[in-house]
Amino acid sequence: MAQKLAFRPFRSIQCQILRQAQVRRTFLFALQAGSPLVRSLFASLTLLIVATAAPVAAAQKVQMSIDVSKPGAKIDRNIFGQFAEHLGHGVYEGIWVGSDSKIPNTRGIRNDVVAALKALKVPDVRWPGGCFADEYHWRKGIGPQRTVTLNPNWGGVIEPNTFGTHEFLDFLDQIGAEAYLSVNVGSGTPQEAAEWLEYLTTAQPTTLAKERAANGHPAPYKVAFLGIGNESWDCGGNMTPDYYLSQLKIYSRFVRNFNPAQQDKQQMLKIAVGPGGGESRWTEWTEAIMKAYQSHTWSWDMNGLSMHSYTVVKWPPSYASVGFGEKEYAQILKSTMEMNDLIAKHSAIMDKYDPEKKIALVVDEWGGWYAPLPGSTPGFLVQQNSLRDAILAALNLNIFAQHADRVRMANIAQMINVLQAMILTDKEKMVLTPTYYVYKMYVPFQDATFVPVTFDAGTFTHDGITLPRIDAIAGKDKAGKLWLAITNVDPNQPAEIEVSLAGINAKSASGETLTAPKVDSVNTFDVPNTVVPKPVSAKAQDGKLTLELAPKSVTVIAVEQ
Ligand code: AHR
Repeated sequence: MAQKLAFRPFRSIQCQILRQAQVRRTFLFALQAGSPLVRSLFASLTLLIVATAAPVAAAQKVQMSIDVSKPGAKIDRNIFGQFAEHLGHGVYEGIWVGSDSKIPNTRGIRNDVVAALKALKVPDVRWPGGCFADEYHWRKGIGPQRTVTLNPNWGGVIEPNTFGTHEFLDFLDQIGAEAYLSVNVGSGTPQEAAEWLEYLTTAQPTTLAKERAANGHPAPYKVAFLGIGNESWDCGGNMTPDYYLSQLKIYSRFVRNFNPAQQDKQQMLKIAVGPGGGESRWTEWTEAIMKAYQSHTWSWDMNGLSMHSYTVVKWPPSYASVGFGEKEYAQILKSTMEMNDLIAKHSAIMDKYDPEKKIALVVDEWGGWYAPLPGSTPGFLVQQNSLRDAILAALNLNIFAQHADRVRMANIAQMINVLQAMILTDKEKMVLTPTYYVYKMYVPFQDATFVPVTFDAGTFTHDGITLPRIDAIAGKDKAGKLWLAITNVDPNQPAEIEVSLAGINAKSASGETLTAPKVDSVNTFDVPNTVVPKPVSAKAQDGKLTLELAPKSVTVIAVEQ
């Protein structure tokens, strides 16, 4: 509609305005003549004009109730994990600029990016891939002489290997996150991976430990998570479940973590390759791995099963990341909400073989995957990040929290400059995306205890696509404070929320809300503050909180008692 108007000849619009002015003048004249009938007709018409010209959407009322005395599982902070692959400008330029760069950096790592990520309290970062991991050979990325190789998966560009093991762990140290290393099962060997872990973690004076010390790090590193392969059913080697299982058993047995601090407590968790969708091919994969796990012997083990699921609607990714309307907004959000059923489906299989839920479902690649930005290198997966992505992120984080007993880790793809990123950079410039702000607002949910919220979400329909109007989660942090995150998915209607609280005497509530003028509003290097959180507060009275949510918004509030 907006587009059609833009192309209408200016002259015809001018004529219409003139005609409207004439009609108004005729009515004004009659009104001055004083007839009550004419006056009332005029009043009704004015109302009609006002209503058509500026529709004021009535707030939809939603009742919520929260009983703080009925806490659920812990919302593991690792569901807020990140993923940084050697892909496009994700690592080179996004994180690494080199110590001789004019861009302010610490040992080659950009200071602006580090400062921004510190505010997110990033729990862990998955690295070096992705598909890249199954072609990565760690030795090429250590020491004073780096081997220059290629990155055949992502544009066939030069891989200088200047950002290697030590640089990655320095980066993690600077942002305060833990390492999630993905080892090369596709084109590497168990020996290569085992030596990498020995190099990283042993405190004993082995030749590899001495080499690590010579390269600047005498103390053993901590490796919190080990991914054994990546998408081994596809880019990781196109393996059958049985073939992959034989690899998993070998890698799980021989790729050891020797760090003395990780022997009893804080043991490294091993994550096996899991499904990439909901079709039978994937349910069979989950069945095979979980069945094997059920009867595993002392000689191998696993602690997590990975799952990859992008919001793409159809492959190849063709939805625009900016310059779209409410139809595409509804289509993408409808598609992203399938994450809930996907988790439920694979959790049900896992429950059969692991009713005690020892194995975590690790959604270590997820997010919106759209068409590459026009003019960008297609293999670099460059896209903008809009208010729609903020809503998408909130809906998925809520789903993970709602499955907190099984989903204990997730890694959004990807951290910087690639797919649904937190941060975009262009040389010395940096901008924080709407998704970044959702992660920042959700920090209080890291390791909070899930508290169930009951409500009737209602629905809205756009172009035949029906979506829940509202989504919400609540959590109690370690200090006992209650936090509430509510998303108003409806792009046009505000929502009036009334929350009844049991087990807590609420005195006030305040926090932040994230919205923007349009569903595809974005932050750019030139205009970086279009989608940024603003303060919001709720009224507290008689054990109830009331607050109004803007359309298409994400709100997080803390309840004070
Ligand atoms: O995140 C981009 C790619 O998507 C990863 O490398 C791969 O694991 C997945 O297919």
